[in-house]
Amino acid sequence: MTFARITGTGSDLPEKVLTNADIEAMVDTSDQWIRERTGIRQRHIVAPEEATSDLAERAARCALEAADRRVGDIDLIIVATTTPDRVFPSTACLLQQRLGIHGCAAFDIQAVCTGFVYALGVADKFIRCGSARCALVIGAETMSRIIDWTDRSTCVLFGDGAGAVVLEASDEPGVHSSHLHADGHYAHLLHVPRGSSTAPDDVGAVRTFVEMKGNEVFRVATNTLGRIVDETLAANNLNKSDIDWLVPHQANIRIIEATARKLKMSLDNVIITVDRHGNTSAASVPLALDQGVRDGRIKRGDMLLLEAFGGGFTWGSALVTY
Ligand code: UT7
Repeated sequence: MTFARITGTGSDLPEKVLTNADIEAMVDTSDQWIRERTGIRQRHIVAPEEATSDLAERAARCALEAADRRVGDIDLIIVATTTPDRVFPSTACLLQQRLGIHGCAAFDIQAVCTGFVYALGVADKFIRCGSARCALVIGAETMSRIIDWTDRSTCVLFGDGAGAVVLEASDEPGVHSSHLHADGHYAHLLHVPRGSSTAPDDVGAVRTFVEMKGNEVFRVATNTLGRIVDETLAANNLNKSDIDWLVPHQANIRIIEATARKLKMSLDNVIITVDRHGNTSAASVPLALDQGVRDGRIKRGDMLLLEAFGGGFTWGSALVTY
């Protein structure tokens, strides 16, 4: 039987750091409010000339190096992003060109903050059924480009970044299971209200931004992530104590703490980056994973629970032996 195994991780953060103090100078907020309600102290923001594919490429090269693989080994590229460089071609195709790869399948996945977990689940299935042997799976975002920097209810929350993994065919797991869900009933609670097919004629002059009913999203996110922990453990016949590391989506430290409580897990076993990265949407889980691997906390053979929740609503998890 063929499984998919993570053989390398990588990430990239833009150079510019925007602190809570910087945001205090932009909107009516305070460092104390942001830290107490979200856990965020700072976030990284792209330079004017940087695009999502720049971050994706750097994270991808970093993951390839960690996996000791060359670009020529890659036979599938999936980029999870809500902030593609262009309407089309996909950011995955732009990245493929930059990496100098030609011919392999390359496509984007749009599941907002759950995007990387969706991408990992899809790549896992490609590998298990023999359609690919060595995939680049990336979450990359420039959320700062779709944020209204005068709206204090959203602009304090988000940041830019990218994370990547190389996922390879292996005789041993790897990805044990992935659990992907969505409910479009909640679309209005967290969205960018217009896109290519719903824009008025004069859209060229109008920009649209992330809008969120934060406390309603918070309530559904907390309950839903609790349920997906149960679903993931049950599907694999595991107990809470079998999980070595929780690698959660980094939207809010209070949501992360609630999921850790559900797992009866100390925060010492949770990879937390929200304080330094803010919410980087599809990039947050692979960024946290790479952080945990590179600082030596996550070791080969550890059992990881990856989970995320985001616009759609979408939510998902993956159980992975690293
Ligand atoms: O990644 C995708 C999923 N996204 C999430 O999971 C985000 C989920 N939501 C959250 O993380 C939280 O709901 C927020 C951090 C967005 C907001 O925290 P909250 O504790 O739910 O605050 P709230 O929206 O209920 O607002 C409480 C108060 C309001 O003032 P009043 O009406 O009580 O006077 C807001 O106007 O806080 C005010 N407020 C702020 N004050 C200072 C909202 N934003 C700010 C701000 N600075 N930046």
